[in-house]
Amino acid sequence: GVTALALAACGGGDATEDATAGGGGAAEGGATMRLALNQTEEHPSYIALDNFGERLSEATDGRWDVDVFPNETLGAQQEALQLVSDGSVDMAIVSGTQLENLNEDFLVFNLPKVFDDVEHQMSVIHDPEVTGDLYTSLEESNKLTVLGGFTQGARSIYTTYGPVETPADLAGKKLRVQESDLHIAMAEAMGASATPMAFGELYTGLQSGVVDAAENNEVSYWTQKHYEVAPNWSYTNHLVGLDYLIINSDLLAGMSEDDRAIFDEEWKATYEEHTELWATATEEAITSAKDGGATFTEVDEEAFTAVLEPLAAEFIKTDTQQALYDAARAAAK
Ligand code: GCU
Repeated sequence: GVTALALAACGGGDATEDATAGGGGAAEGGATMRLALNQTEEHPSYIALDNFGERLSEATDGRWDVDVFPNETLGAQQEALQLVSDGSVDMAIVSGTQLENLNEDFLVFNLPKVFDDVEHQMSVIHDPEVTGDLYTSLEESNKLTVLGGFTQGARSIYTTYGPVETPADLAGKKLRVQESDLHIAMAEAMGASATPMAFGELYTGLQSGVVDAAENNEVSYWTQKHYEVAPNWSYTNHLVGLDYLIINSDLLAGMSEDDRAIFDEEWKATYEEHTELWATATEEAITSAKDGGATFTEVDEEAFTAVLEPLAAEFIKTDTQQALYDAARAAAK
């Protein structure tokens, strides 16, 4: 079949014509879509996306397939986002923090305390009544369509130097955050000094002392081996993180109606599978990290909640953001 690169090289209009040529259901369009991921092959996101490709290929008689490139081999998230926008990579998993930099409405779902848990988050972000125009908002400006997402689970802080109980234990410490103004402010609110950095640089950053601490979920803590260099995990549970699946808008528009329906159905099965895998992967990561010498301790949660809660009022500036926030909170139990 035609590769995604060739399709993209034809330009958007041509891709649409190709896919609909001949009219009716049997579109000739198709591609093995290259997907950029910054996780290892053991991570639930890789496993679920790899299965996505297999099912999609089978259901479309091989017209459409997904080839997942793990470990930032197509670039770290900031670059991957640009490559999907350009059409030289077809899809990527990017953290919500990356999209916040293109449209500030996305920051609402990156706030601490906006989601209570994974179930709440997944129901909100896959409810078109809530998301409205958000997921198509980058199509004209950046040729990016958001298809939905995967949970990053609850994120907590881990350090090279010892457990954290209150924000005071982060004073004078460099905490790595994702490239996001909101998360820089979040780190500072928690008492740390913020160092934005790409995910793939973090192991070395912790090891060399460029940063003293980081924050993530247990699955990444384990699969990235960060527990080896920062063995003190403290359960701040400051936010439930969110990854989005993005696709080049022209490529998506070039899909026949029938193939698009199959694609949507298989993608839904994919994020549902991911949520199921997530719970088990989290338990396994904790056990494995403990075996590897990591300690997991509780924090003074109220002390953290007190400094995190004001961030919503500080960062929500528009009616659209407020509406998204209110809808997300209204869906909480
Ligand atoms: C999680 C998330 C990634 C993100 C990473 C990070 O692992 O799933 O998308 O890049 O955190 O902290 O950068």
